[in-house]
Amino acid sequence: MPKGSCSNPNADIKGGIPKRGILLVTGNNGKFREAREIGLKYGVKVVQESTIEKFEIQASDVSKVAELAALAAYNRLKAPLIVDDTALHIDALKGFPGVYSSYVYTTIGLSGILRLMEGVENRGATFECAVSYYDGNLMKTFVGRLGGVIVTEVRGTGGFGYDPIFSPLARPGKTLGEVSLEEKNTYSHRAVALTSFFKWFTGDSEYT
Ligand code: IMP
Repeated sequence: MPKGSCSNPNADIKGGIPKRGILLVTGNNGKFREAREIGLKYGVKVVQESTIEKFEIQASDVSKVAELAALAAYNRLKAPLIVDDTALHIDALKGFPGVYSSYVYTTIGLSGILRLMEGVENRGATFECAVSYYDGNLMKTFVGRLGGVIVTEVRGTGGFGYDPIFSPLARPGKTLGEVSLEEKNTYSHRAVALTSFFKWFTGDSEYT
């Protein structure tokens, strides 16, 4: 199925593995690449749906944003789907940029965040990711978090978004921009949320 198609994601899956499909509504190729790899481990083909824009409501938490976006996307596509909403919370900035992460990234960017953090000792930060599934009937949301620190300069060319300024506690000394997609997928906020989702979706979980 070509990228961006909005028909049934199960339509091109013929026997063998993967056994099922799910639409991921995102224009973010980085999110899609990570989700595709994790989905394969569970026999699920993740199909990127980028023909519609993710509905971005300004809500107080990522779960609410992801659920409303999933609902809006379902109303357009009429097929089971997932939406990912992610926020970076910086301790010293009282959780900022949080639900404004997307806006802040495209306005002041990584250099703007580093400037705000100049001379700040407490570098603690957390990524929070909510993955919402909706099929027209059932809404389920899965959350994952990753603790780390904001480094003092942009490092690495891998990943996307804030990855080059975030060093996870799981990998001291490296930013997410300096680790492979495979490594990021072993501990990231998105991997935690998606793993819970895929376990539930495939029936291999305490959620069923
Ligand atoms: P959203 O979920 O697309 O609204 O993401 C908000 C902002 O966080 C965007 O600027 C993304 O590029 C960024 N972002 C989302 N996920 C990640 C990630 O896994 N690593 C780094 N930045 C991310």
